[in-house]
Amino acid sequence: MPTSQPTQTAEVARLLAKCQRVVALTGAGISVESGIPDFRSKGGLWTRFPPDQYATIQAFMDDPEKVWQMLAEMEKVLDRAKPNPGHLALSRLEKLGVVEGIITQNIDGLHQEAGSKTVVEFHGSHRTLGCQWCGKGYGSDEFDGTETPPLCSCGKVLKPDVVFFGEAIPTRAMNDANSLASGCRVMLVVGTSAEVVPASQMPMLAKRNGATVVEVNVERTLLTDSVTDHFLQGKAGVVLTDLANEIAKLL
Ligand code: APR
Repeated sequence: MPTSQPTQTAEVARLLAKCQRVVALTGAGISVESGIPDFRSKGGLWTRFPPDQYATIQAFMDDPEKVWQMLAEMEKVLDRAKPNPGHLALSRLEKLGVVEGIITQNIDGLHQEAGSKTVVEFHGSHRTLGCQWCGKGYGSDEFDGTETPPLCSCGKVLKPDVVFFGEAIPTRAMNDANSLASGCRVMLVVGTSAEVVPASQMPMLAKRNGATVVEVNVERTLLTDSVTDHFLQGKAGVVLTDLANEIAKLL
């Protein structure tokens, strides 16, 4: 059983400052404070758009216009979102030489916007789109949002370069994530329900290779009683800012 706050932030800060080779695995929870709802919490995207109808590659190939109803709503939210203190704290910890890299399941690009340099986008990015039929690629800034769904010059509906259910993780992202997870000394798991493989296996991979697992979440997850060594309960923006402040004092 992991121990819990409030006694823990200082202890975890000491651990991170000492170990340094920290890799963060982030999920939708870290971007909630940027105004992007997560997927599985009450009111989350999947409670309104069942993923079997809106988020499988088969659903997209069968009826891309229908899937774009969900994507268009998501795009509107993503376009307005800005990095929050949680993203900024991870970027600060990278500059301090504590965080080695981030494996993110998020497609929002907010870690990079916050200044993080080593970011593995495990589920792709919404900033580019591709044609499943002719292979042509586009930047999302080539479309102003009025054209829904966006079309390729060949006339087919474009798909954002995000990983749908039923699609493989891009090889490069898989390799980079495996190498970061197996080489780290601490894995900081932030704002993920850990319900989706293979991303959810990264903490176990890190642990098998000797890492300590620290989890930050507003609620307990599948990992909390099985893999997690330290559970810091709270909002990512608050907990990560406290951690970064503590760590900065120790370096
Ligand atoms: N701070 C920390 N954690 C939070 C916050 C917050 N402010 N708000 C919500 N959370 C937590 C929730 O408690 C939950 O455990 O974030 C987690 C979000 O879980 P999911 O909605 O399942 O999102 P995620 O784990 O990223 O989903 C993984 O599933 O649908 C696919 O491809 C999609 O990348 C996504 C993947």
